[in-house]
Amino acid sequence: MSPIPKAELHLHIEGTLEPELAFELAHRNGVDLPYADPEQLRAAYAFSDLQSFLDLYYQLMDVLRTEDDFTALAEAYLARAQAEGVRHAEIFFDPQAHTSRGVELDSVVRGLRRALDAAAERHGISTRLIMCFLRDLPQESALATFEACRPYFGAAIHGVGLDSAEVGHRPSKFADVYRLAREAGLRLVAHAGEEGGPDYVWEALDVLRVERIDHGIRAIEDAELVERLVRDRVPLTVCPFSNVRLRCVDTLADHPLPAMLAAGLLVTVNSDDPAHFGGYVDENFDGVRTALGLTNDQLRLLARNSFEASFLEDDEERRKRLLTEVEAYRFPGQD
Ligand code: HPA
Ligand code: ZN
Repeated sequence: MSPIPKAELHLHIEGTLEPELAFELAHRNGVDLPYADPEQLRAAYAFSDLQSFLDLYYQLMDVLRTEDDFTALAEAYLARAQAEGVRHAEIFFDPQAHTSRGVELDSVVRGLRRALDAAAERHGISTRLIMCFLRDLPQESALATFEACRPYFGAAIHGVGLDSAEVGHRPSKFADVYRLAREAGLRLVAHAGEEGGPDYVWEALDVLRVERIDHGIRAIEDAELVERLVRDRVPLTVCPFSNVRLRCVDTLADHPLPAMLAAGLLVTVNSDDPAHFGGYVDENFDGVRTALGLTNDQLRLLARNSFEASFLEDDEERRKRLLTEVEAYRFPGQD
C-alpha cells in the first residue's frame, strides 16, 4: 500500500545523515569518528534536550566535505522520501555549520542542488531549498552568510529559516537579516516555540514577519496567539518524533497535535532530523495515528495542509494536482 501523498516542510538535510553513510564518508575523507561502527553511533542517539542533540549533529557533519558528499546526502534522502509518499520537499541546510569548518559554500549549494534538480524526474519530488541561520551565533555572522549566499537567491535558494539552540536566542536578534531577506524576495520561516515559549512565536511573527513557524508546539499555551495563528492561517510545521526524542513532550501519546488540530491551526507533520529521531515522515504519520488515535480524515487533513502550507505559489497547477491526489487517496482497508 502506498503512503498518502504529502509535502515535507521541516527537514534538515544534515539530519538525514544515516550512520552507514556517515562512516562511508568518514572513510572516504579520512575523518575519524569517535565511534567504532554505525551500531555504536546509533546507540549514542539518546538525547536529553535540544542541545544534547545539536552537539552530536554538529560533530557528525564533519564527514561532509565535498560537493559529491552533499549530493550523496541529498540523493539518499530523496530516494527515501519518495518511498514515504513525499511529492514536494522544502529542505533546510545550515551554511554556517559548513563554512565554519572550511567547506566552500559553493560545494554545499551546488552539491545539494545537483540532487534536488534531478529529483523531479528521478523521484517525482519538487523541491525548495531554505538556508537557516544558526541562532546561537551573532547576527553579524548571519548577515555575512546571507550576503555570501546572495548569488544563489531565487534559482537555488528560496527562503531563510532560523535554527539551533532556541532559548536565550530570541527571534528579534535577527530582525535586520530577516528584513534584508524579505527585501530580497525570499520566503521567511523560523523555528519558534520548540523549547522557547509562546513569546518566541509572537516575535517571529511580529518582528521577523515569518510566513510559517517551525515546531510552534508551545503556541497552544497562549489562547491569544492561537487565535492569531488561526486567523492568519499561519502554518506550523510540527515534528512529533523530534519532540519526544528531544524531551519537549513526554511521550507521543502526550503530544499536543490533537489539541492543535482541534483549535483549527494549520498544522503539518514532518520529520525534522529523521536519521536521529527514529523515523521519516510517514513513520511520523503512522506514529500519531497509532499513539494519538488520529482518524483517516485527520491524516488526510494533515496531508492537505502540507501542500497548502508549502511554497508552491509559483506552481499553483502542481499544488492543485497534488491536492487532488490527496483527496483521491484511499487508506488501507478503505472502500
Ligand atoms: N531545532 C533546532 N535546530 C535544529 C533542529 C531542531 O529540531 N534540528 C536541526 N537543527
Ligand atoms: Zn528543525
